[in-house]
Amino acid sequence: MEKQLEGLKEYLSQKKEEIKDKKNTKFISVASGKGGVGKTNFTVNFAYVLANIFNKKVLLIDADIGLGNVHILLRLPLVKSLKEVLNGKSLEDNIVNIKNFDVLPGFSGFEKLSEIESANIDKLIDQIEKVSKNYDYVLIDTSAGITDEVVNFIRSSDKSFIITTPEPTAITDAYALIKTMIKIYNYSDFDIVVNMCKSREEGIEVFEKINNSSVKFLETNLRFAGFLPFSEELRRSVLERKLITENFPKNNYTKYLIEIVKEELNIPSEKKEDSFWGKFLSFFKK
Ligand SMILES: Nc1ncnc2c1ncn2[C@@H]1O[C@H](COP(=O)(O)OP(=O)(O)OP(=O)(O)O)[C@@H](O)[C@H]1O
Ligand SMILES: [Mg+2]
Repeated sequence: MEKQLEGLKEYLSQKKEEIKDKKNTKFISVASGKGGVGKTNFTVNFAYVLANIFNKKVLLIDADIGLGNVHILLRLPLVKSLKEVLNGKSLEDNIVNIKNFDVLPGFSGFEKLSEIESANIDKLIDQIEKVSKNYDYVLIDTSAGITDEVVNFIRSSDKSFIITTPEPTAITDAYALIKTMIKIYNYSDFDIVVNMCKSREEGIEVFEKINNSSVKFLETNLRFAGFLPFSEELRRSVLERKLITENFPKNNYTKYLIEIVKEELNIPSEKKEDSFWGKFLSFFKK
């Protein structure tokens, strides 16, 4: 009996380790529907903040197949890239370390469409799964549109950031992507980020528009991850091929992005401390 109990204990602790192993790495994809809404800038800066302010181990994958941009923002030469991996080379050999995080760069253009077979994408997801244990976060920057690749990256993730702007075209496309994922794939782990806003109020208004439709027609509540302001400094950073979070640490885009990262890490933001309950509770701590 004792032996059986020992065996059971060992089995349970092994299972616990397995679960812990699985839970240690969080997979997040970043998608949008519409192009040019700020996915890549969001993903690269999110990775930078996670790694450099919060000491997390991060792997960023540029999964915008054939139209990758991450290497441009990070000034990476395209020696190692996703293309190599899709052509059968190992993922580990193509990972580059820069600014305290790891990157699998994407690539620009491909000669034959057949090179990008879905079997290769499946293999890539398998390889990502294998190396992922070395990281706290695996971030996947996807392409615009509702392609099979985008859908599969989202489905493989623990959650997805959906980036939109206040423009009706961006809102419509974000909703179309969410609707497809919920209706066809029964996937609904979405955090909405409203980029290029004039104010927090505008961000909340846009979120409510999308969420109201989602509740009404898809019976699903979405989460509001936060808003990011329109920022001239971000545009300047892109032109100079620098990261806004590194280049302008005090800028509002940087500030609100850090808020979104804190939310992700469950770290209370200063704003919350300023709220009635935040203050009320802080009086007890003194
Ligand atoms: N908050 C912002 N304020 C001002 N400009 C922004 C902001 N976010 C993004 N941009 C501008 O939008 C451009 C496109 O951004 P980004 O490449 O990140 O979008 P994307 O969604 O990844 O595009 P694609 O769909 O082509 O991959 C940037 O080069 C920048 O000029
Ligand atoms: Mg992009």
